[in-house]
Amino acid sequence: MPILVTGGTGYIGSHTCVELLNNNHSVVIVDNLVNSNKEVVDRIEEITGKRPIFYEVDATDGEKMEEIFAEHDFDGVIHFAGLKAVGESIEKPLAYYKNNLLSTMVLMENCLKYKVNRFVFSSSATVYGDNEVPFVETMDLLPTINPYGETKVICERILTDLAKVNPDISISLLRYFNPIGAHKSGIIGELPQGIPNNLMPYITQVAKGKREKLRIFGNDYATADGTGVRDYLHVVDLAEGHVVALHKATPGVQIYNLGTGKGTSVLELVHAFEEATGVEIPYEIAERRPGDLAECYADATKIKKELGWVASRTLVDMCRDAWRFERNLE
Ligand code: NAD
Ligand code: WQD
Repeated sequence: MPILVTGGTGYIGSHTCVELLNNNHSVVIVDNLVNSNKEVVDRIEEITGKRPIFYEVDATDGEKMEEIFAEHDFDGVIHFAGLKAVGESIEKPLAYYKNNLLSTMVLMENCLKYKVNRFVFSSSATVYGDNEVPFVETMDLLPTINPYGETKVICERILTDLAKVNPDISISLLRYFNPIGAHKSGIIGELPQGIPNNLMPYITQVAKGKREKLRIFGNDYATADGTGVRDYLHVVDLAEGHVVALHKATPGVQIYNLGTGKGTSVLELVHAFEEATGVEIPYEIAERRPGDLAECYADATKIKKELGWVASRTLVDMCRDAWRFERNLE
């Protein structure tokens, strides 16, 4: 029985499709290509030798989604589809609320109607707001300061309320920290449009010579070297985490952090990249970016204890794989 992967041609979705296919699941992708392209389906096939079924459909389109659910007998849904640029969400809140909430609601309506009992949701460490690090699943969610983060909090609440009255259904709320890196083949990875918002794609573009230098947003935070600290994890570890969460799903709501549990500063990541690749990254110190936290890293013990998942790939792996992917781009 196939797994429905919304957003399956995107960054995390494509890596997860590979892991699902490698674990002998068949995969149906729904993606409207707003932030990815169709060639990713070919790349997934190239890596795995198996081709997922692909629908270029908007996950908010109730009619089309119902046709897809009626056509396939899904065993589970992994819902990656969503808009994710924090800055853009402040400019276009309605687009973010509509896309991220409606897609989740349309999928859940169909899951309930077609008795699909396993649902995995892409949540984010952003739901913790500025709680104290390390972030633990039991913490109260604090207001986030942008509509993107709010969509994740609201979706988590919607899904939790639905699980209360649908005891057969299993909802996994996976809170990702900072996924970076790429598949070791170097043919799928993160493909930002325009100027990257995130650190690693910016670094790889500087390494490639596409951008002159990195701007480090602040070196006066209360951290060891003054630059922001994050919990970077390899996207393939993250993808594997989804397969584990799906396999070990039990009825009710399960919330898990997916991170390494270790914080790395911007400067440490830059130096790790230079060591892993031998390429120097010119940088300058710039103003703090509004809305950034000083530190964000996981308490990653719950998922290890309950599901046996740990993020095992190193920073060097992440840097080397991200660079291999960037070098392969035109
Ligand atoms: P991405 O933009 O690469 O992938 C998302 C995919 O969803 C894209 O292919 C896009 O075309 C598709 N999409 C968006 N809206 C859609 C819709 N209405 N219908 C169908 N397809 C739609 O992003 P990603 O980094 O792979 O993120 C995947 C999920 O994980 C998102 O929900 C994101 O919010 C969440 N997340 C990402 C990060 C991160 O750092 N990348 C961290 C935490 C959570
Ligand atoms: C990491 C660090 C920056 C770019 C974002 C979202 C979050 C989640 C993951 C989805 C910070 C610094 C960055 C640059 C820099 N996404 N930086 N120069 O902000 O931790 O998280 O992506 O859920 O919700 O907010 O990731 O990669 O943008 O930044 O100095 O050009 O790198 O200040 O300390 P962030 P990031």
